[in-house]
Amino acid sequence: MVKILSGKEIAEVIKREVAEEVKKMSIPPCLHVIQVGNNEASAVYVANKIKSAREVGIISHHTHFSATITQAELLEKIRQLNVDDSVDGILVQLPLPSHINEDMILESIHPEKDVDGFNPVNAGKLFQGKQTIPPCTPAGVIEILKRSHIAIEGKKAVVIGRSNIVGKPMAMMLLQENATVTICHSRTENLERITAQADILIAAIGKAGFIREKHIKEGAVVIDVGINKVTDESLVRELFDQTELEKRLKAVKEKGFTLVGDVSPKSAKQKAGFFTPVPGGVGLLTVAMLMKNTLKASQLRRN
Ligand code: GUN
Repeated sequence: MVKILSGKEIAEVIKREVAEEVKKMSIPPCLHVIQVGNNEASAVYVANKIKSAREVGIISHHTHFSATITQAELLEKIRQLNVDDSVDGILVQLPLPSHINEDMILESIHPEKDVDGFNPVNAGKLFQGKQTIPPCTPAGVIEILKRSHIAIEGKKAVVIGRSNIVGKPMAMMLLQENATVTICHSRTENLERITAQADILIAAIGKAGFIREKHIKEGAVVIDVGINKVTDESLVRELFDQTELEKRLKAVKEKGFTLVGDVSPKSAKQKAGFFTPVPGGVGLLTVAMLMKNTLKASQLRRN
């Protein structure tokens, strides 16, 4: 029987721990979130970040620029926040409009205030196994594994996806935990031969329900980082068993979509030993880890 790893419980524990630490501080940490344009998903993510900050006692500010802001204006705003001593963490929600160079923006955030861990200085420290502010999503995956008492050391871990936000830092963090790590991607040959050897399989591809039974080793720990909108009823029927199907079809009828990860839940239930659901898995940890990173950034900078 597969065990479902609930992100909700773990995220709540982490947020409670952060809230306890924040209470001990004379001045609470301060997070500044920058949003550009009207990306629908970004609006939801930013709202969740602000709400979580409030819940744990972190002060948050939200600057929302129109999609027509110039790169120079955005850089100027970040420059001001970098030198503002009351600000501990700066987060620029991605993606940015195409006329703005995302790399240049991420590089402009002071590494000490880079609570996303995307600045090359922090990414470089992670690569070297040094103390740093880690990217929130992979850090959340490590928390799920550790707090569920899943052994990482010596295990074969396969990460599918090589993004700077998830795949690459995920691989580095698993390596730091002494796993034997393989990174797969869109050009990998014989993908299922590699993934079917994984004790820990991390899917961060961005393709709804792509991982099926043939990709999963019997009893493996399957961590689903994907969040995809599925509108096609026939795909929903393929991915869900009777326990969830009706609810999912209802969502497609009423909202026009249902949120699905990169792993077929039906396949995971048949083959995996542990599985993170979507929604209710890794996504909740990302926000909890942002709170933890903001706390850490404030403690490191102020001491
Ligand atoms: N867009 C999607 N994921 C993320 C994230 O973790 N941080 C930021 N800043 N933007 C994102």
